[in-house]
Amino acid sequence: MAPQRIAVIPGDGIGVEVTVAARAVLDAVADRHRLELSYEEFDWSCRRHMEQGAMMPPDGIAVLRPYDAILLGAVGWPGVPDHVSLWGLLIPIRRAFRQYVNLRPVRVFDGVASPLRHAAPGSVDFVVVRENVEGEYSEIGGRMNRGFPDEFAVQESVFTRAGVTRIADHAFALAAGRRSYVTSATKSNGIMHTLPFWDEVVAERAARFPEVRWDAEHIDALAAKLVLDPQRFDVIVASNLFGDILSDLAAAVAGSIGIAPSANLDPTRTYPSMFEPVHGSAPDIAGQGAANPVGAVWSAALMLEHLGHPAAAADVVAAIEASLADPATRTRDLGGTAGTAAVVGALVDHLG
Ligand code: NAI
Ligand code: MG
Repeated sequence: MAPQRIAVIPGDGIGVEVTVAARAVLDAVADRHRLELSYEEFDWSCRRHMEQGAMMPPDGIAVLRPYDAILLGAVGWPGVPDHVSLWGLLIPIRRAFRQYVNLRPVRVFDGVASPLRHAAPGSVDFVVVRENVEGEYSEIGGRMNRGFPDEFAVQESVFTRAGVTRIADHAFALAAGRRSYVTSATKSNGIMHTLPFWDEVVAERAARFPEVRWDAEHIDALAAKLVLDPQRFDVIVASNLFGDILSDLAAAVAGSIGIAPSANLDPTRTYPSMFEPVHGSAPDIAGQGAANPVGAVWSAALMLEHLGHPAAAADVVAAIEASLADPATRTRDLGGTAGTAAVVGALVDHLG
């Protein structure tokens, strides 16, 4: 079989450090499972923007198209505005490759203290399924009368039947293989057109998964419940904006943004999917060898699962569990003193 080809975009700051870490762990698990993976690195980043005026070359999307998957560190650096780095690389990739599912697993691991005192290790294990290509993050709208007292801005949300159907189906199918419980984030009491439509389509799709229990929660109440009772959730399905907010909240509930992974999936597999930690480039700790590599490594495990290697993915997650359980291999964000390299060493040892 030809090797599966992976495009690696380390990006900026600790993005580079955690990508090196993820590569080392992937090499170890590939050895163990005799996987054929090949890598090509791209220096697309704010550094490139400062030198060449763009985050990626004009044909960047076409260059990535033939790969089986994309592994990304993080982009963003002082000197390049954040909306430029985001709209110059990440959002074009998510949209051009129809990565309409943003998947963010959340777990409270043994050894990682959640800020919630009742979130015991092992008791919190859910996934946020965020709609990733439409909804509130639309390009429709505009600004008029700039600088005048009657200046205004309008931004339209876009919810399509196809878009809501496919994200709901993904959530219900995922729940069927887990604890069979879906929570749909809504606000159909206040937002009178788009979210009642979302509710209707979710209900229609739910009827096709009679074995999966589900309910709808208003986003404000849901945010409160995520803090008060995170154990009750299995799969949470949400629109682009609600899912964005919930998944950062959820990463905090799990103890540190440094361990949170994400997958941008095209479930139809027409285009490459992209895997990246939730965190950014962390300029405040970049270059110190202090970054927690777990978010990137867990993202690499999601990539292995997507590429059809569930046993290898499970081994990587087991290695993460073991390294977090050992105080000697916890990074500073988790109250430890270990550097990135020590964590990677432990992960590779577990896989050896
Ligand atoms: P950030 O996630 O980079 O950092 C927030 C805080 O968490 C910092 O104190 C940082 O030191 C800490 N932190 C983050 N990841 C960590 C890790 N792996 N280990 C230990 N500590 C960690 O978010 P911030 O500061 O808002 O953004 C910095 C830059 O990153 C900005 O340019 C932003 O636009 C970009 N960014 C990029 C993302 C992406 O590429 N997907 C996502 C979020 C932010
Ligand atoms: Mg976010």
